[in-house]
Amino acid sequence: MGRTWLERLNYVLVLLLCLAPAAWLVWRTVQGDLGANPIETLIRQLGVWGLRLLIAGLCITPLARIFKKPRFIRFRRPVGLFAFGYILTHLSTYIGIDQYFDWHAIWKDIVKRPYITIGMLGFTLLLPLALTSFNAAIRKIGPKTWRRIHSLIYLIVPLGVTHYYLLVKADHRPPLIYGAIVALLLGWRVAAKWWPVAARAPRPSVQP
Ligand code: HEM
Repeated sequence: MGRTWLERLNYVLVLLLCLAPAAWLVWRTVQGDLGANPIETLIRQLGVWGLRLLIAGLCITPLARIFKKPRFIRFRRPVGLFAFGYILTHLSTYIGIDQYFDWHAIWKDIVKRPYITIGMLGFTLLLPLALTSFNAAIRKIGPKTWRRIHSLIYLIVPLGVTHYYLLVKADHRPPLIYGAIVALLLGWRVAAKWWPVAARAPRPSVQP
């Protein structure tokens, strides 16, 4: 079925929305407006936007089912890939700008700091999802394997929230709020098992 101009416009709007925080961060960097500790601000902003987009990706299937809009599913791939892009940049900033590629120090951090261990685990698990988010890969592995690989997201997002919870020193409310939203979204999926309309397994959205 061909896509209408409105569907195309919605798709472009979603892409622009995903891109907006990155554009804002680039702008603030150019303006020298990242506060007293620009590297920390950059890492934190990239991390939190990565997490927000992962959570936004988890919202798409419930919204599509609840509002009976199966076309919403096509937003899952760009939102997920943007989340990966933010998290990859988050990790690269930490490795290149914060640690100056000091692999020894980075390895020590991974082993000694539980929040880094958990972040690294989350990122490692995200890799197969990103690599199988292209039409050619989806066709090659088939929908069953694709589904199995992509169900890792139910582990990755809680790992991201745990990473956040462990690294905050004073106010634990923000990671707890993200955690509550994730619990609700995962709870919906468990409930959906008993709800025939919502029970269909996720499918890859192969686009022409
Ligand atoms: C699924 C993967 C990941 C997610 C969702 C994620 C998310 C986050 C979030 C939400 C924050 C806090 C932002 C804030 O305070 O507003 C953060 C901070 C941070 N993350 Fe990640 N992260 C991930 C992976 C990683 C990895 C792989 C590393 C490095 C090996 C890493 C290193 C850091 C560091 C150094 C901070 C800042 C800590 C500080 O300023 O004290 N993260 N991340």
